[in-house]
Amino acid sequence: MSEDLESLAREYKVVVRDLMKVYRRGTQEVIALRGVDFEVERGELLSIVGPSGSGKTTLLRMIGALDRPTAGVVIFEGANITQLSEEQSMDYRRRRVGFVWQTGNLVPGLTALENVMLPMRLAGKKRGEAKRRARDLLTDFGLEARLRHRPHQMSGGENQRVAICVALANSPDLLLADEITGELDTETADMVMETLKRANKEYGLTIINVTHNPRVARYASRVLRIRDGLIEGQRHVLYGDISEIDAKGRIVIPEAVRRLAGLQKRVVLQVTSEGLLVKPLRVAEAERVSEDQPGEETENN
Ligand SMILES: Nc1ncnc2c1ncn2[C@@H]1O[C@H](COP(=O)(O)OP(=O)(O)OP(=O)(O)O)[C@@H](O)[C@H]1O
Ligand SMILES: [Mg+2]
Repeated sequence: MSEDLESLAREYKVVVRDLMKVYRRGTQEVIALRGVDFEVERGELLSIVGPSGSGKTTLLRMIGALDRPTAGVVIFEGANITQLSEEQSMDYRRRRVGFVWQTGNLVPGLTALENVMLPMRLAGKKRGEAKRRARDLLTDFGLEARLRHRPHQMSGGENQRVAICVALANSPDLLLADEITGELDTETADMVMETLKRANKEYGLTIINVTHNPRVARYASRVLRIRDGLIEGQRHVLYGDISEIDAKGRIVIPEAVRRLAGLQKRVVLQVTSEGLLVKPLRVAEAERVSEDQPGEETENN
């Protein structure tokens, strides 16, 4: 970790740097995140807004260690969570982060009480203790009359409030919420957001809330806009890694960088005032090159 990053890691709850995610669908590649940078303060309620497909869910999945980025880091409380082992990453998901998704994360066959107990039981808490905390949480959020109800017997707003209690069950330090009001009417959405705001204020919980609804975003103290895999207003120089040039002038360009820059086997080198620009060799240029050099059409590497 660079010194700069280390001091940021000490100061902030979450630091996201150079985060990049490339999905492969068959031979097609989708670049969902193109180098995202931001920090989240301890106890902050941050909203991230952006159009459909801009990379919001992808970003939350990386922060929640549900998936690994192609490049870049996510630092949580000073630790790089993109380098955790399988076991550590499971522990992180179970104890440190809480998730709430758009469609709710409740188990259909279980009551509200049992749903909230579930993560605590999985983390090894005794039944009686889990039950007590589940009841307290649900009561705290005005759901004391719904303890024995199953998800299909409750309204959308009630389901999402139970889902928030599920996410809070193991007292996480960070709550990740993905479009949790997406399927609710305005009034119900406000109620759910008030619940989130209370969790933020009363438990000092750090929250990252993703939404495409500007009205919902306003509950946060800060709003970041993401578009096409980049935070708006950030001009990002992708992947600032250091490569060495060997005695023969060879340089190793990491695979992720080659993919992002669209580089294949042959490239064009241009010396600019900023340094060396390495560009993909386009088809037209390739034809011109081979016309100029009739003996060198075949690639020899
Ligand atoms: N598992 C996957 N495989 C391939 N491509 C994916 C995968 N998940 C997401 N993508 C692509 O990555 C891009 C970002 O997707 P993401 O789900 O992060 O967007 P989003 O901002 O959450 O959108 P929405 O508001 O619709 O939920 C999209 O182009 C999407 O098609
Ligand atoms: Mg999404």
